[in-house]
Amino acid sequence: MLSALKNQAAFFRQFRQRFETTGAIAPSSRFLARSMTSFLAARNPSTPVRMLEIGPGTGPVTEAIVKLLQPHDVFDLVELNEEFVAILRSRFENETEWQRVRAQATIHQLPVQDFAAQEPYDFVISGLPLNNFPAELVTSITDTYFRLLKPGGVLSYFEYMYVRPVRKIVTRGAERIRISSIDETLQAHCDRCRIRRDNVWLNVPPAWVQHLRKPLEVR
Ligand SMILES: C[S@@+](CC[C@H](N)C(=O)[O-])C[C@H]1O[C@@H](n2cnc3c(N)ncnc32)[C@H](O)[C@@H]1O
Repeated sequence: MLSALKNQAAFFRQFRQRFETTGAIAPSSRFLARSMTSFLAARNPSTPVRMLEIGPGTGPVTEAIVKLLQPHDVFDLVELNEEFVAILRSRFENETEWQRVRAQATIHQLPVQDFAAQEPYDFVISGLPLNNFPAELVTSITDTYFRLLKPGGVLSYFEYMYVRPVRKIVTRGAERIRISSIDETLQAHCDRCRIRRDNVWLNVPPAWVQHLRKPLEVR
């Protein structure tokens, strides 16, 4: 309980210091974490998987992931912010559920667009605040998501409800062009690959979780 409050306070500090990359006022709720991990939860537990979490922050979604990992799964985490990396390392050291999978988990501290994986992943779960980024960076990051996924693999990411539709109406000039361009990029991926969208109302703020499957290669 005390450590959860400390993590919330650390998250809020990063929200104030690094708004663009932190992108939220509070860590995600357990309801959002459950939706983000629903495809991992539904996999065949006897087949090992490679799992990548991008932007874990203080670890609310990681907490749901560690509960679902099986002994031969591989779990990589990519986080930019060294304060969050320190919190995640401490959780893998000190929390029982996390200790169980510590040997399977590797934290990489770098921007995901610079991350070169040894092999692609079955599941990619991302908490990045894409609406805060320049449009070209969103294109680069979404290309990275699909580069890192195996054909047939599932990408799950969240976005706060109605942010882009509202910003497209209330903004002007360069900001409107930026938001419209991000919207086009994300919509194109959803049109091509979306398998489901969840509405998660019990989160601050409420969020949509988008689940996309990378197409199988054409033989
Ligand atoms: C909205 S927070 C989400 C944190 C956590 N997943 C949650 O749901 O509460 C975004 C996270 O992405 C990280 N981040 C932002 N840009 C990143 C990038 N280019 N590569 C890796 N991590 C990044 C931030 O440091 C932060 O931890």
